[in-house]
Amino acid sequence: MMTAARMLDSIRVDYPAPAHVPAELKVDLGWAMGSVPNDLVDPYLPCAWLTDRDLPPLLFNPANPKAPGGIAGGMRGAWVVHRYEDIERVYTDNDHFSNRGTAEFQAMIGETFRSIPLAIDPPEHGKYRMFLMPHFSPAAVARMDATIRGVVVEMIEGFAGQGEVDIAWDFARAFPVRIFMGLMGFPAPMFEQFLAWEWDILHSWDTQKTMAALRAVLAFLRGFIAEKEREPDEHLVSKIVHGRIEGRALSADEKIGTVWFLWLGGLDTVAATISQMFRRMALEPEIQRQLRDHPELINSAVEEFLRTQPILSSARTARRDFEWHGVEIKAGDAIQCLNPAGNFDAARFPDPRSFDMTRKGNRHFTFVAGVHLCLGASLARRELRTLLEEWFRRIPEFRVKPGADTTVFPGLLSIRNLPLVWDV
Ligand code: HEM
Repeated sequence: MMTAARMLDSIRVDYPAPAHVPAELKVDLGWAMGSVPNDLVDPYLPCAWLTDRDLPPLLFNPANPKAPGGIAGGMRGAWVVHRYEDIERVYTDNDHFSNRGTAEFQAMIGETFRSIPLAIDPPEHGKYRMFLMPHFSPAAVARMDATIRGVVVEMIEGFAGQGEVDIAWDFARAFPVRIFMGLMGFPAPMFEQFLAWEWDILHSWDTQKTMAALRAVLAFLRGFIAEKEREPDEHLVSKIVHGRIEGRALSADEKIGTVWFLWLGGLDTVAATISQMFRRMALEPEIQRQLRDHPELINSAVEEFLRTQPILSSARTARRDFEWHGVEIKAGDAIQCLNPAGNFDAARFPDPRSFDMTRKGNRHFTFVAGVHLCLGASLARRELRTLLEEWFRRIPEFRVKPGADTTVFPGLLSIRNLPLVWDV
């Protein structure tokens, strides 16, 4: 087996990078960001060697001049952080690391509104977070239990007797979006269109398509906001539009910035998680058996699925010049946290590659950490838990349909189709 040092040598590149980046730290880590598929039971395994403590704590991934993009920092390249404690620092040290510009795809078409709350730094971030929190708190999500359970049960009972379902396409893609559409008050028939727009924005890697989708979705959302201004209802977009922050109404930019980012954050994150969760259970039936025998472990199993499936890795921008691990970081440098390394750091998680649903203190980075901790985390957790509870009440041991392709992107792209079968 190759040592981590040899692995590092094999990905070294001499692409252009800013003058302050030492040549020996320049490596191509684009493959680690979830855009290269594989067929492993643990699809995040290719990042395992990056948790080796002998590696330099900071690496630099320069933009590939032939294929820019793929990693945060775009044309500039990014520092890559892979140790648990360093990732934690980037997510929690708001004095050195900023969220400005994070996931602001709208800038591509000349829009200047900000993505709220994700791209806002503290202390300003706090007022937006407080404004939205009442709708996403554990208590608010608990009130959605009957709705979530109703949708799950209806969908599972629709296919239970058939002995087969395409869990990715027919279930994972649809279930969380149905909940999300109901929460926001979006019209149900927009479902396919929303997913198509989101695909073009996040996954098409085609600038023309991305820009066209951005124009279309923002036009739709602005029209929808205007409709709710005229005709309020009890759903979240209407509450945002008519809400007040620190005693005043929201500006037009704040309304679109908030609704837009919820739209982007809420659509397919849970879907990707569900598909990977069922793929893992199908390929490792022992997990199914344990959950069936011990439903009381469902909550901690969900946490372990989240840890072992870090579908996103977040980036920040350095706010100032400073030295870190003997390396010079300059204001404006992009810093990419490699969650598929941090979530498996043996210094933090004993026996990190094994799926252990009894794991204690499972503080992973799948929802990041610090003030930007995913606002939808309680909702996502409840959706996943409810799904597992109702699934194991109705479906016996399942497996991948013989001959089906189980190739998966270890990230948000996930898996498009995954037919599962069971005996009826
Ligand atoms: C398993 C499912 C999900 C995962 C893995 C996930 C992951 C993440 C991550 C990694 C971030 C932080 C990004 C960063 O700081 O750069 C984030 C933030 C956020 N997520 Fe999620 N998310 C999920 C579900 C949801 C859902 C269902 C919603 C909404 C309905 C949502 C809304 C948000 C919002 C609004 C933020 C920004 C929070 C802030 O900046 O204060 N997420 N999410």
